[in-house]
Amino acid sequence: MSDATWHSAGIDRVILTEEQIREKTEELAKLVAADYADAESLLLVGVLKGAVMFMADFARVLGRYGPPVELEFMAVSSYVQGTTSSGVVRILKDLDREIAGRDVLVIEDIVDSGLTLSWLLKYLKTRSAASVDVVALMRKPAAIKVQVPVKYVGFDLPNDFVVGYGLDYRERYREMPFVGVLKPSAYNTP
Ligand code: PRP
Repeated sequence: MSDATWHSAGIDRVILTEEQIREKTEELAKLVAADYADAESLLLVGVLKGAVMFMADFARVLGRYGPPVELEFMAVSSYVQGTTSSGVVRILKDLDREIAGRDVLVIEDIVDSGLTLSWLLKYLKTRSAASVDVVALMRKPAAIKVQVPVKYVGFDLPNDFVVGYGLDYRERYREMPFVGVLKPSAYNTP
């Protein structure tokens, strides 16, 4: 789809272009590779579904610079409906394996209220990982409700509801290769 087609599909403006995302992913992967240069391996834990695009791109770049990686996924939900966080976190899909003794890197698309990540970090600690750090492509400082330590942050965004590159509005727009803001009219479409 061209950008013009996305526009007619409800996108008001682009917040992060494909190129900005690609460059930032490279930058973050190099930082992580340097910090984990002595690690035997790194376990990436992606938070479905939003992080799927970033996880895939980040892992591929990290593979060029860093230690061998393994991929795990969890699915948790903190949004009930609509456009704001509810604070309710549920496990929809748990880890498939034990992570005791492993260096774990949580891969998040966005930290909004921080509720999901705050819960997840506590949970991962109970699973006895050797270390747990976080890479988040995006963060919304104005939306934060719980302070969470995010070691690697790509972009700080304004407090707009954003979609694309994994982020959805009612399960749509995840496949968009860039991040954008919806037109108000798009909220009313079925
Ligand atoms: C989004 C996003 C983060 C979380 C951030 O996921 O992918 O995981 O919300 O919000 P928070 O900081 O306010 O907790 P969501 O729960 O919408 O599920 P999804 O990734 O499947 O869309």
